[in-house]
Amino acid sequence: MMERFLPDEAATIALAEELAPLLKTGDCLALSGDLGMGKSTFARALIRARLGEPALDVPSPTFTLLQLYDGTPALYHFDLYRLSDPDELIELGFDEALEEGISLIEWPERGEGMLPEETLTLSFDEEGNGRRVRLSGPDARCAELAGAFG
Ligand SMILES: Nc1ncnc2c1ncn2[C@@H]1O[C@H](COP(=O)(O)OP(=O)(O)OP(=O)(O)O)[C@@H](O)[C@H]1O
Ligand SMILES: [Mg+2]
Repeated sequence: MMERFLPDEAATIALAEELAPLLKTGDCLALSGDLGMGKSTFARALIRARLGEPALDVPSPTFTLLQLYDGTPALYHFDLYRLSDPDELIELGFDEALEEGISLIEWPERGEGMLPEETLTLSFDEEGNGRRVRLSGPDARCAELAGAFG
């Protein structure tokens, strides 16, 4: 398992910017962690970096559950906190997201059983004034992302 200490918000953003170019079509990146651990900060920075638009407005998909961004490939930003039924994920176009896009998923626990086996998970935990982030998932894919973990 790869991990990294993120002392402040800037470090969370820097990690997102390092991982952004390494992601590819079909990647499903679950962002796991308690309230306020930096999941949205990370997702926002990753989306901005992928699209090359540093000031892009990236609203939290808390109520819409999904925000879609055109890109190569398209980016699907999910927040499953308010998911009431796993089937709702399918209605949102989850299969298409997994096949054609890069999916970022906040509160993946709410979609338990719906996420693909090859899901990459970044878990954020509090550590002092910062965060400890851990990457888990298929060994081969994790190895390809190792560069971002120093
Ligand atoms: N590595 C870090 N160290 C300290 N603070 C951080 C770090 N990364 C992000 N933060 C701060 O944590 C706060 C919460 O961030 P954010 O909203 O991204 O969390 P979240 O996990 O999406 O929370 P929620 O589940 O409530 O949506 C923000 O003020 C952000 O600046
Ligand atoms: Mg959030």
